[in-house]
Amino acid sequence: MQKHQLVLVLDFGGQYNQLIARRVREHNVYCEVKSYKTPIEEIRALAPIGIIFTGGPNSVYEADSPRCSKEIFGLGIPVLGICYGCQLMAQLLGGEVTAAQDDSAREYGKTQTYYSTGCKLFKGLPQEGISWMSHSDYMARVPEGFALVGHTAMCPNVAIADEGRGFYGVQFHPEVNHTENGALMLKNFLYEICNAKGDWTMEDYKNTSIQAIREKVGDGKVLLALSGGVDSSVAAALLAEAVGNQLTCVFVDHGLMRKDEGDEVEAAFSKWEINFVRVDAEKRFLDKLAGVSEPEAKRKIIGEEFIRVFEDEAQKIGKVDYLVQGTIYPDVIESGAGDAAVIKSHHNVGGLPDYVDFKEIIEPLRLLFKDEVRQLGRELDLPEYLVMRQPFPGPGLAIRVIGDITKEKLDVLREADFIFRDEIAKAGLGATMNQYFAVLTNMRSVGVMGDGRTYDYTLALRGVTTTDFMTADWARIPYDVLDRISVRIVNEVGHINRIVYDITSKPPATIEWE
Ligand code: XMP
Repeated sequence: MQKHQLVLVLDFGGQYNQLIARRVREHNVYCEVKSYKTPIEEIRALAPIGIIFTGGPNSVYEADSPRCSKEIFGLGIPVLGICYGCQLMAQLLGGEVTAAQDDSAREYGKTQTYYSTGCKLFKGLPQEGISWMSHSDYMARVPEGFALVGHTAMCPNVAIADEGRGFYGVQFHPEVNHTENGALMLKNFLYEICNAKGDWTMEDYKNTSIQAIREKVGDGKVLLALSGGVDSSVAAALLAEAVGNQLTCVFVDHGLMRKDEGDEVEAAFSKWEINFVRVDAEKRFLDKLAGVSEPEAKRKIIGEEFIRVFEDEAQKIGKVDYLVQGTIYPDVIESGAGDAAVIKSHHNVGGLPDYVDFKEIIEPLRLLFKDEVRQLGRELDLPEYLVMRQPFPGPGLAIRVIGDITKEKLDVLREADFIFRDEIAKAGLGATMNQYFAVLTNMRSVGVMGDGRTYDYTLALRGVTTTDFMTADWARIPYDVLDRISVRIVNEVGHINRIVYDITSKPPATIEWE
């Protein structure tokens, strides 16, 4: 594949590290996150045009704090240190970092900051603005050769630069939206300091990866498990474009999808001459799920049944050469870390290799962030409803019908969920939430409709805003919109006589109810 210019983000454990990488890519510069432990030889071989040191939770003067080789500064590559990264750079180059002696030098939150706009990093910026601070250490002495190019009322050196050598450090976080003009600072680093060409676009990525896939696959057979989610759909479209009818897409319709979703997915792929297999497995799944109400048991059954169905189809197809997976970059970064407690066992379409006879895996989205995957989908002319599809759990509506599952309950939920989404779209609120859906609770209550008593289900509506899905806030949907949704659902969908809106954040709740 054609080599793009690379910016390396050296990860020192900060919470915004993925965000830095995304921000860089938003400026059309390819960038990768790697551990601070990456050996110097590897860094040299990667030949990045610039290196960014991230923030991190440690203090550089602690004995076991994470540090990189000092040789980095001898590579002739510009470096931008952010927060911990800035302090580490200062220390490695002969400065001195201490704990802030009094509260005044410890800064947190939105802070009025003053910039030397003659410095390349701050070119084109107003001379003052808000920056987002989160540091309790202080650069008591900056290294020789560095000028002070930013200050606050409390701290004389929140930004330092040795422009001759191309080294820059900021104690605040330019990658966070709260920092005014933070995006421009990063852009300046890339274009004014690292001389980036801006050669990372999804159009280019599409063309180069299609070529690379063709070369790799030759006349081999390719198999892909299509879930209907954004990632697997875009991966399928890319492969379809690259190898046409050498591709078989198996789309397991487990009957747990939202209204019309299965047909939409099928329609989106009808323009390619691929082997599209839609397996109607609704009965198989519902039979297995009958009477099961425990959430983890549902997930397990669905995960296993999925593999069984896929296995049956794979057997019909026979030996394939390549199996495609829709792994994306955040999965790659995150799989390196974390042994956090399992709250829910997420079922994804991954994990199939054991069950299918194949030679190699292709992961064509492995380098991409979600917004890049969506953009690639657009480049491949996938319809907007697929490209912008919100996350949908692998077990589908099975974990949005609380308690035991029946086809009738699923149909009720499908209709209600459709009306919810329809009204949100009509109100123009779709882009204000990251995920929104309906949940059929297992609770029934008394109501009155016409002249009669009803005893029917309570439907819960859930809408959240989030950047990472690990924490989330409940969305403030206007009351009048909630009212329209409620009236329509109760009138148009049978068996629901009460509607509630979920006003818990995550934590303590999770986004899904099961
Ligand atoms: P929770 O409910 O854990 O959800 O706050 C966080 C995000 O993950 C999605 N989710 C799943 N996705 N398989 C998936 O692929 C699953 O089993 C699963 N469970 C939850 C959920 O929709 C939300 O976006």
